[in-house]
Amino acid sequence: MLFLALETSCDETAAAVFTDEPRILSNVVSSQNDLHARFHGVVPEIAARAHLRNLLPVIDQALRQANVTLKDIGCVAVHNTPGLVGALLIGVSAAKMLSLALDVPLLAVNHIASHIYACRLAAGRDIFPCVGFVVSGGHTALFRCEDALTMRLLGGTRDDAAGEAFDKVSAILGLGFPGGPAVEREAANGDPNAYDFPRSFLSDGRLEFSFSGLKTAVLYTVHGQNVSRATPPPAGRLRADVAASFQQAVMDVLVGKCKQALRQTALTRLAVGGGVTANKVFRAALEAMAAKEGAALFIPPPSLCTDNAAMAALAVEKWRLGQFAPLDLDAEANFL
Ligand code: KG4
Ligand code: ZN
Repeated sequence: MLFLALETSCDETAAAVFTDEPRILSNVVSSQNDLHARFHGVVPEIAARAHLRNLLPVIDQALRQANVTLKDIGCVAVHNTPGLVGALLIGVSAAKMLSLALDVPLLAVNHIASHIYACRLAAGRDIFPCVGFVVSGGHTALFRCEDALTMRLLGGTRDDAAGEAFDKVSAILGLGFPGGPAVEREAANGDPNAYDFPRSFLSDGRLEFSFSGLKTAVLYTVHGQNVSRATPPPAGRLRADVAASFQQAVMDVLVGKCKQALRQTALTRLAVGGGVTANKVFRAALEAMAAKEGAALFIPPPSLCTDNAAMAALAVEKWRLGQFAPLDLDAEANFL
């Protein structure tokens, strides 16, 4: 059985073809970074219009790379929640149209659950039950995952998501968009212990996060209390040290909370996904912690960490259970 999956929840237009194994045959992602860079963040209306322009060429490319045609597709899957509602609607409408035109079943997949399923996809074997951790631009949330489709929220962020904090600190430092890779590059030349930035909730047992205080601490360190019309700092020691110290503070909290979640749930597997998981310092810190705790760590390769449609192979699990979506399927902005 061949599946075609679509992802348009935020600012990547993506399509993938996979088998029911699941095995990825193609995974095409068209990024809109250039369109949003000058706004230092994703502009929903611009994202939706770009999806409309890009989606059909991206689907064509995914089919070509998989060496199949629409006639070979037996199921259509789409991320219908959570995300920007106007952006989600483009993928949902296209998936419904394809399902109707090809007369094949439609499967609706949760984008957050897919980020965790990316670990299962990359591992090529069962990873459940596990602690699931999604660290992206929109979410920072820990789950107890019984199986691919049954997850209970253990705790999440009270304000900014970790990726969002990277994007905002990148804007403060004048490093560009998206912020994560830019801050990681800058941090490589800095001292992670130069500034003692706050690590919210780290020493308490609640599995919650807060990154807005950290962002403000970075802002005050760079500009003092007078931040009106502040220009970003020039390249040099201060900029690199702030980037490295900020990144270290985020990683200490993310890794520390994973450790607490493993201990509190007594689970011995940890699956981490979402854009921030592409960060090499984060991956190394997770590996060191998991080894110490005696836990098995599952992290996808970077191409399956950031938004993509291949991770919607979670649809295979729904297909096995006959959990198909109706043709009046809607896009839902909120999930948590
Ligand atoms: O999962 P994703 O592609 O989209 C959402 O579902 O939000 O995550 C995007 C987020 C952005 O905030 C981006 O800055 C962050 O992931 N990110 C990183 C890195 N690469 C992407 N954060 C830190 N280090 C990275 N290397
Ligand atoms: Zn995502």
